[in-house]
Amino acid sequence: MALNLLLLGLLINIFVFTADAQSVGVCYGTIANNLPSPRQVVSLYIRNRITRMRIYAPRSDILEALRGTNIELILDVPNVSLENLTNPNLATDWVRNNIVNYPDVSFRYISVGNEVDPNNDVTRQFVRFVLPAMINVQNALEAAGRANQIKVSTATYTGLLKDSYPPSIGVFHVNVADFIRPIITFLVKNGSPMLANIYPYFAHIGPPASPDLPFALFTRTTPAYKDGDRPYFNLFDAMYDAHYAAQSRLGGADVKIVVSESGWPSAGHNSATPGNAGTYYRNLISHVKSSRGTPVRPGKPIETYLFAMFDENDKTGEPTEKNFGVFTPGQVSKYQLSF
Ligand SMILES: *[C@@H]1O[C@H](CO)[C@@H](O)[C@H](O)[C@H]1NC(C)=O
Ligand SMILES: *[C@@H]1O[C@H](CO)[C@@H](O)[C@H](O)[C@H]1NC(C)=O
Repeated sequence: MALNLLLLGLLINIFVFTADAQSVGVCYGTIANNLPSPRQVVSLYIRNRITRMRIYAPRSDILEALRGTNIELILDVPNVSLENLTNPNLATDWVRNNIVNYPDVSFRYISVGNEVDPNNDVTRQFVRFVLPAMINVQNALEAAGRANQIKVSTATYTGLLKDSYPPSIGVFHVNVADFIRPIITFLVKNGSPMLANIYPYFAHIGPPASPDLPFALFTRTTPAYKDGDRPYFNLFDAMYDAHYAAQSRLGGADVKIVVSESGWPSAGHNSATPGNAGTYYRNLISHVKSSRGTPVRPGKPIETYLFAMFDENDKTGEPTEKNFGVFTPGQVSKYQLSF
């Protein structure tokens, strides 16, 4: 009997683990004045069997709503908090207030900063804080006995790459290398993944290059090109492999890349239509959940987080920025996706 129960437990574990390992996540951005409450949002995730979430700052109402749900979470340290976390005591406080105090929330990764970039006028100021903050958060998690389950990383993006075509020549900008190399060393040392925001949409609309729409939407039936003997059928794989090539040059060949954002807007540009967006999300989900992998990393699903859960009406910048949701603020599914 005991043995039977043990076997049953193992089977259930294997089942849950397998189902879980293949789910896509969705980023829960909140730059809007018309979104449902965190409780309603968490319930929308559960009804749609979305088992992973990313949030961009610790918010007690969201963390409360996540208690006991098993939804696995990427929690960001917002850029504006990075400087504080270069102080070990403040990092310990941050980890206690936002992680340790929620033992029934399934934290998966802490993203220390988002798209911090030495070549960007707005985010350059944060560059020198990222690694010290990562180290302090890591130490605080270790002290709290949580460093085995929760991995510390930072979210990069394609803007850090100098070259990405063909993918095998992928390389970081010269001045980015000095920023990212010690971060890669940190990731290797702690068995953490690299997080990367990868948007074929932005590559498609350019500048400089404008890869064709079927390549960006995963609808080509013949390769767009071959890189050596590797055929590329879709731009997502090409961008992913370019990131991989870039980090491999700096000692990160064994660091897994988690796609911490990818999406396509439904309005605000000629290429941003509901039809294109629906095609992109559907094909992205089926691609990353399959074990096709990419030409350089075949045979494995790619852990991926769609951007974003809702259209966000308070976002600034390009008109498309408000239109990345896979749901409307009224909780209507825009593309009937199966996550
Ligand atoms: C990062 O910081 C910049 C500057 O404060 C800000 O514009 C951007 O929205 C921030 N991103 C996140 C996700 O915190
Ligand atoms: C930084 O830390 C100080 C002191 O604990 C706190 O008052 C302040 O709100 C923090 N700033 C941010 C942006 O988190």
